[in-house]
Amino acid sequence: MEQYIIKGGNPLVGEVEIGGAKNAALGILAAAIMTDDTVRIDNLPDVQDVNVLLEAISKIGAKVDRISRTSALINGSNIGQVSVDYEYIKKIRASYYLLGALLGKYKKAEVPLPGGCNIGSRPIDLHLKGFKALGATTRIANGSIIAEAAQLRGNHIYLDTVSVGATINIMMAASMAEGRTVIENAAKEPHVVDVANFLNSMGANIKGAGTDVIRIRGVERLHATEYSIIPDQIEAGTFMFAAAATRGDVIVKNVIPKHLEATSVKLMEIGCQVEEFDDVVRVVATGRLNNTNVKTLPYPGYPTDMQPQIGVALALANGTSLVTESIFENRFKYVDELVRMGANIKVEGNTAVIYGCEKLTGARVSAPDLRAGAALVIAGLAAEGITIVDDIVYIQRGYECFEEKLRGLGAEIERVSSEKEIQKFKLRVG
Ligand code: EPZ
Repeated sequence: MEQYIIKGGNPLVGEVEIGGAKNAALGILAAAIMTDDTVRIDNLPDVQDVNVLLEAISKIGAKVDRISRTSALINGSNIGQVSVDYEYIKKIRASYYLLGALLGKYKKAEVPLPGGCNIGSRPIDLHLKGFKALGATTRIANGSIIAEAAQLRGNHIYLDTVSVGATINIMMAASMAEGRTVIENAAKEPHVVDVANFLNSMGANIKGAGTDVIRIRGVERLHATEYSIIPDQIEAGTFMFAAAATRGDVIVKNVIPKHLEATSVKLMEIGCQVEEFDDVVRVVATGRLNNTNVKTLPYPGYPTDMQPQIGVALALANGTSLVTESIFENRFKYVDELVRMGANIKVEGNTAVIYGCEKLTGARVSAPDLRAGAALVIAGLAAEGITIVDDIVYIQRGYECFEEKLRGLGAEIERVSSEKEIQKFKLRVG
């Protein structure tokens, strides 16, 4: 298994370029098959989740032409089956976006039920509630969900919980239903807006994305488009917190500052300077960070996908901080790993009480999930000595060229897969 090995202590300094948003790309790649024309998508993040979903859509018959690391042509005219293999759902939950896309276009879809994952049970009851409201029947057989409808009709759908996935999945199905659909209590994340903009560029009629009421007027067919995905706000925020934790000075390029507001505000609260330009933010941290309190909320609140990253920064802050995770029930698994690096944190229910300490020391840790894995890398960059992060396959699901981008900022980090490579790194860094 591959690992990251890190020698901590270097402040991160320099410039880093942010890639396309993974969580927008996954919805957009599913929606791309809803037309029989060819669709061109640019600024695709070169990450494992995107590569797996591209495989899944070509497996059901779509023509996929990866014209570069970050661009693809997709044509869904030859899709011969509407059932998705289990192997793809096992690799990425977001394959369930094919439910909404296939149901919208073919009025039938069969997708294996996604399991839970490391951050919580993650039910999809709201997705199914939306499909049923549009007139589909849904049943579970042999581990898969089968959704079908003689005809999809628009309806007024209220989401009990703000859900990114349910909002995107229902929006796709409703975009080709008869008549009008209203989605109340919709998720407002930038990636929800990006999927809506993508569908509109294909001829859909979606208004209000980014607010909590989305209005959709169904259309008969969707057509070709060329579309570039928005920058990844979570990748950007991860580098911003890496600058904070290592007392560095990092210019994060190709971002939409508006999408980073909650992250930037928290960084300023803990003592960082954050400068915003058109499509760049600069984070400078000179001294020890201050403590603060944070609660994760749906956008525009503080993102749950940025919770482990601020947890690491606060582990090094002066004073005591409270981090409350209100979205997922099991998103503090990184805390045990951080305590092994010297952090002083107590988790009580969905709140972590973080008593800031002067320093962290390097240790061998394991990435429990995508964002926690990235946060443990940040901890290793800030710690004294050598840190080895196991199970980095999680990190590669959502961060493109992660170690290369960090090395570009002065980090001592390498991807290794043998004891020999570990010894070589230790000899080189001394
Ligand atoms: C998306 O997951 C993201 N994944 C997650 O990012 C992100 O953490 C999450 O949104 C919240 O922003 C993708 O976009 C691929 P939700 P999703 O539906 O859609 C409950 C990452 O690190 N819920 O907004 O699954 C659910 O249990 C990943 O990139 C239901 O109860 O999240 C949770 O408590 C991790 N029933 C809450 O809603 C449902 O039918 C929010 O989940 C659906 C969700």
